[in-house]
Amino acid sequence: MKATFVFALAIIASASAGPQRSSELALQQRNLLEDLVKGFIQLIIESVQASGLDPLYVESAEGTYSFFDLEDVFTATGSLSEFNFEGGSNIIVNDVNFHLLSRAISINLSVPKLQLSVGSFVGTISVFGRDELEVDGSGRVVIENVNVVARLRVGLLPNINIRDVTGTITVGDVESDLNIILFGEEVSDRVNDFLINKLSEALKTYNTQIFEFFERAIIFLIDSLV
Ligand SMILES: *[C@@H]1O[C@H](CO)[C@@H](O)[C@H](O)[C@H]1NC(C)=O
Repeated sequence: MKATFVFALAIIASASAGPQRSSELALQQRNLLEDLVKGFIQLIIESVQASGLDPLYVESAEGTYSFFDLEDVFTATGSLSEFNFEGGSNIIVNDVNFHLLSRAISINLSVPKLQLSVGSFVGTISVFGRDELEVDGSGRVVIENVNVVARLRVGLLPNINIRDVTGTITVGDVESDLNIILFGEEVSDRVNDFLINKLSEALKTYNTQIFEFFERAIIFLIDSLV
């Protein structure tokens, strides 16, 4: 898989490094690249599905967990039961575009439905390096129509790499029926209201952090899937 990916990046690099080409050749090259990127995303999706991560069901677990080993992004420590997360690998690739001059790829992806439910969770959570929150919770969240439009620049030095991941993320309807106790205080209504009514706004507020996370997650995936 890595070979395919490095090959794709190498084409991008050479496509933009060379002298002016005929527009027909440039178009062919662009189509080839767009197909390669689509194929690569498909490979990631298939490997997630094959590895049993979607749907992800955990009967009960205890310990510390962070996304992609990125401890400053999200860390949860504690115990949980009947955790279920599904829909994350049902990714629809709407559009892939290659911008020759800026050596950037823009990708438009949708996830129709994300569902998360947990029978019980007791422990601490830390998001984006903020203070640890003592949480006791259960319930279910459904997020529909998650759309991610990302722009990735391909760098050449010191190695061919991905950098400057920017973009926007939007969500459609959100259902939230969580019971959350934070530092011993009942905050379910506030949390549900936040997820149902203010998630879109929060995604804008934390846009920079979210895309920094995506950048690191993409690099992590590329390094670890190979
Ligand atoms: C992304 O794709 C969706 C579905 O095709 C489309 O509705 C949306 O406008 C696209 N977003 C951008 C920024 O191109």
